Amino acid sequence: MKLLVTGGAGYVGSVCAARLIESGHEVVVLDDLSTGHADAVPSGARFVEGDINEVIGSVLAEGFDGVLHFAAKSLVGESMVDPAKYWQGNVVTSLRLLDAMREHGTPRLVFSSTAATYGEPEEVPIAESAPTRPTNTYGATKLAIDHAITSYAAAHGLAAVSLRYFNVAGAHGPVGERHAVETHLIPLVLQVALGQREQIQIYGEDWPTEDGTCVRDYIHVTDLADAHLLSLEHAVAGEHRIYNLGNGTGFSVKQVIDTCREVTGHPIPAVIAPRRAGDPAVLVASSERARTDLGWKPERADLTGIVRDAWEFTRSRQEA
Ligand code: UFG
Repeated sequence: MKLLVTGGAGYVGSVCAARLIESGHEVVVLDDLSTGHADAVPSGARFVEGDINEVIGSVLAEGFDGVLHFAAKSLVGESMVDPAKYWQGNVVTSLRLLDAMREHGTPRLVFSSTAATYGEPEEVPIAESAPTRPTNTYGATKLAIDHAITSYAAAHGLAAVSLRYFNVAGAHGPVGERHAVETHLIPLVLQVALGQREQIQIYGEDWPTEDGTCVRDYIHVTDLADAHLLSLEHAVAGEHRIYNLGNGTGFSVKQVIDTCREVTGHPIPAVIAPRRAGDPAVLVASSERARTDLGWKPERADLTGIVRDAWEFTRSRQEA
């Protein structure tokens, strides 16, 4: 297929673009480089630098079999202090994309949704039927886009899949996580191991969990990318399907730090800090639906392996 990957210079987008090329697809990456890196775009892809709002019409006019839409603002903390950036950057931009796809008859869409659409869950693991009550603006904007996609699919025959990612981590060979402002747990802990930061702050030790720290479901970025390929194959015209992607096992912040200590051999000093606004206590996925409908099966579920891949990537960047 000929595919447009928005946000293909970012972490998840660039890994998916690489995976699509490895599977024989033709890939065009569209990215404004506001947070992505031009050198993360895989060499087999054609790269268009630009803002979706300005160029999407002319890009889609050349004809595509589908769009994988990763381009987004994705920092939970920032979304609480600068909501306009998220409503504009996520919702308005995605509506622009949906309209351009309709105009040019682009038949398929795979959208990066998030576990943050659910908010604090009533039941764990979280199934797709769980109530969606986001606790932060980031999750609210992604949920709004999911609703828009549902109505566009029903009204205009779009074949759409939203993938609700839990906590993505690890690296796909030379492509990994590198944000200018890093807020994610595993890369921050690894920065301590590299000596780039003195200690890691644990955001709250008084959560209603076994060791008092937040629990998350960490999924390897390559497994996540594979779900996108399967989604493209299984998307059905006029339907919007939603799938949770995680391993179904939760790890506390303290367990993640301990795993990083094992992998790196570094003591990684940690201190307790106040809770972070917008954080739910526990987010663990039920991915039964993805397994049943898509035939998806995570091959890299082990947290030690996920951290090891992230660590190898981090060290290789340091040496480069
Ligand atoms: N944390 C710390 N110290 C830090 C950084 C994070 O204790 O320095 C904690 C957080 O409070 C949270 C956990 O580590 O409990 C994981 O935090 P991340 O920032 O790595 O990830 P989040 O769970 O906040 O969010 C991620 C994605 C979101 C997505 C969400 C869904 O960034 O886009 O997973 O699970 F919505």
